[in-house]
Amino acid sequence: TGLYTLDPGFTATSSCRSAITYIDGPAGVLLHRGYAINDLAAKSSFLEVCYLLLNGTLPSSKRQLAMFKLEVTRRMTVHERLRTFVSGFPDGAHPMAVMVGTVGALSAFYCRSSVGKMDEAARALAAIRVVAKLATIAAMAYKHSIGQPFAYPRRDLSFAGNFLHLCFSSPLDQGEFKPPPKAFEEAIDVFLLLHADHEQNASTSTVRLAGSSEANPFACVAAGIASLWGPMHGGANEAVVTMLREIGDEARIPEFLRRAKDKNDPFKLMGFGHRVYKNVDPRAKEMRRLALACIAERERQDAIDNDPDAYLTSSAPVGLSPTDAIPAAEIRRLFKLATKLEEAALEDDYFVQRKLFPNVDFYSGLALTAIGIPTSMFTCLFAVGRAVGWISHWKEFVEDEPRKIGRPRQLYVGEKLRRFPTIEERD
Ligand code: CMC
Repeated sequence: TGLYTLDPGFTATSSCRSAITYIDGPAGVLLHRGYAINDLAAKSSFLEVCYLLLNGTLPSSKRQLAMFKLEVTRRMTVHERLRTFVSGFPDGAHPMAVMVGTVGALSAFYCRSSVGKMDEAARALAAIRVVAKLATIAAMAYKHSIGQPFAYPRRDLSFAGNFLHLCFSSPLDQGEFKPPPKAFEEAIDVFLLLHADHEQNASTSTVRLAGSSEANPFACVAAGIASLWGPMHGGANEAVVTMLREIGDEARIPEFLRRAKDKNDPFKLMGFGHRVYKNVDPRAKEMRRLALACIAERERQDAIDNDPDAYLTSSAPVGLSPTDAIPAAEIRRLFKLATKLEEAALEDDYFVQRKLFPNVDFYSGLALTAIGIPTSMFTCLFAVGRAVGWISHWKEFVEDEPRKIGRPRQLYVGEKLRRFPTIEERD
């Protein structure tokens, strides 16, 4: 009708006002509540960033931060019947399928009143539950996928440490606790921090839109997980590892760059380019650093695995070295290949002119692979980190006044009014 502007992909439409995250794409800047992502990655922790995103300010004291951490750790436990619920998924279920269903099911366990009746404390509690329980559910999805018993979170572990414990504590240890390696714990913490929020991406916009109907927060987050699941959004880190393995050798880089530039070839350089960043994604540099640290630790773990004496007395959880994991030497080779590929692309006119730089996904898959996390879990890890962003945006939306249910219009391209012919006329 001409009354509405067509904007598929929302490339020129602001869907909301938000005070949570700022991105300057051309400059490659990402700020959470005004703090630069690189500063947060170097000086803060995932849970401190959760506090910041949810509350708008940093914790005012060590004690306030410690209280927040304690609250999250307490909420990492899930109702026993939720464990039965997860056990009911068929063998071979994708961990994201388990997550989307189980997070939706949280509505049945933790939602006592309608959103309209939730006061500030109830909204804050729901937010903490989302942050805490998504980590536990992701780990349960993994344990279920490999047919191992679920573990319980521990009060003496950090959030990242608990996640690794829940994923990798091994039945071989007969309940004896083995702390996950520090380097992996730190890497998971920074990985989650780097994924915590990214303003109005597809999954966050989905959460806000679902929230606009006053659906309960757990259902809204389940909708966000569904949106994240697709390869165009949460699945790119997995695609990078697959691509590197396909390229296989440095000598084949020119061939793959040629393919990426060929408009008749559907191949794209995975982990390169971004809708918003027309500069280096500030998270990519941090991710490269993490990948290197994780590969060095994996080399240490592999040495232990290949020495029966060291293996028996190892203080690391046995599960951290799944036998089907990619060996450290292979991951280091892929890392070198990724570095060469990045260098070659950054010198290529095609990528320079289009301002295509590595994004957060370019090195993140290698970091997770080195930790021993299977590719089927990569998007779940993204969801565990992004949970706080989703629920912060949900809170911001439901606490805003005035607010409106999201209801986009469309440009109708179908038939005009037609006379309805009877079935006899049509026969
Ligand atoms: N390899 C080769 N060419 C590319 C690539 C790439 N990775 N990315 C963009 N281009 C080209 C594209 O073909 C187009 O060329 P032309 O102007 O000649 O038609 C130009 O660059 C502009 O790209 P676009 O497709 O208009 O950009 P977009 O904003 O629609 O897409 C993107 C952004 C991330 C989907 C895309 O860059 C891409 O598919 N990258 C690979 C997948 C990937 O790494 N995804 C992860 C994104 S970061 C996740 C997050 O932040 O949460």
